[in-house]
Amino acid sequence: MELIEAIEGRTRFFIPGQDENSAFPPGTAPVFYNRRMEFNRDATVLLLQVIRPDHYIDTMGATGVRGLRIAHECEIPVTINDRDECAVNLIRKNVLHTGLNNVTVTKSDVNVLLSGQRFDAVDLDPFGTPAPFIDSAIRSARRFLMVTATDTAPLCGAHKKAGIRRYFSQPLNNEYHSETGLRTLLGFVVREALKYDIGLIPQFCFAHEHFVRLHLQVRRGAPAAERTLSSIGYILQCPKCPSRSEQHGLLPRAEVCEYCHTPLIPIGPLWLGALQSETLLDTMVEMIEQFPLGTSRQLATLLTLCRNELSVAGFYDYHQLARREKRSPPSMEDLLDRIHALDFPATRCHYLGTGVKTTAPLPMLLQAVKGDP
Ligand SMILES: C[S@@+](CC[C@H](N)C(=O)[O-])C[C@H]1O[C@@H](n2cnc3c(N)ncnc32)[C@H](O)[C@@H]1O
Ligand SMILES: [Zn+2]
Repeated sequence: MELIEAIEGRTRFFIPGQDENSAFPPGTAPVFYNRRMEFNRDATVLLLQVIRPDHYIDTMGATGVRGLRIAHECEIPVTINDRDECAVNLIRKNVLHTGLNNVTVTKSDVNVLLSGQRFDAVDLDPFGTPAPFIDSAIRSARRFLMVTATDTAPLCGAHKKAGIRRYFSQPLNNEYHSETGLRTLLGFVVREALKYDIGLIPQFCFAHEHFVRLHLQVRRGAPAAERTLSSIGYILQCPKCPSRSEQHGLLPRAEVCEYCHTPLIPIGPLWLGALQSETLLDTMVEMIEQFPLGTSRQLATLLTLCRNELSVAGFYDYHQLARREKRSPPSMEDLLDRIHALDFPATRCHYLGTGVKTTAPLPMLLQAVKGDP
């Protein structure tokens, strides 16, 4: 295997040569490495620098870059695992190359490894869906669980049948599908935890380009699980107009749209609670200045957006609302000012540049979009 030296953050490591002329170069090498996921890795490196677990396992290491960076840049003891022989050989080579002495390398199926051993922080970074690995990861994780999903089409409702099979949840492929995808994955992970009387508290969860990323705190015991369960429910979406509402509970209850009286469509079950720990995000924003990361500017923007995002499920694309009203859209600043002037909270959101979160009733929001007095 031809090897090339790469660098992310402060870590140098080898990656396999890729066919740069291919539509998806990472898919052309014997061991997977996707440069576009540096942003995802940077987010986790910075977060771990704040939460400081006693031990971290990169369960699906490939080149090992994620675990190597955490061992080197955060100086946290790490285990890096992969079931693929070629990957494990490269991980071992990379450990030698970096000279790290706080890394253990294992070659195992992730479900087998996590069923037999507990780790303080468990990270799942599979190809596509993490659904088959969540159960063992929850049993293994002492304090933190991190999950990447790249199967955004099933999660967001574009591949509806696959999404229902994997996550046992009804998606809807509409303008806020990226948020539905994130909340659907979170709802699924939570349901897998509840059966063990384990509660989960979202620390920093976001959707970005082609992936969804969860960073969760694990709390054992029935009271913690009950608190977590209370955030499960549905988004009820009107199929005829932009109106939607949240409904907490295990089963969806039939409702009609309060504006056009059409029966609402339930999306879920999914997570309706907060997606972030505000104090953690504040600390990450403070720390990012002193921490050399390749994507720090982009990450700082994401952290600020997530920190300030209103915790209500289902954003509006206000350009779509303006088109529907046959008006040209105002600037984001003007729109937010107008909603605030009507005495309702409103914020940008991290999913979409023209996305708005608000608790304002639909007629008020449309009034603000149109700029009507
Ligand atoms: C998307 S790649 C991981 C990328 C890596 N974490 C990074 O940041 O570059 C997925 C890796 O998981 C490994 N893998 C897939 N299924 C596995 C399983 N059941 N047990 C252990 N490793 C597995 C594959 O061999 C592959 O190397
Ligand atoms: Zn309606």
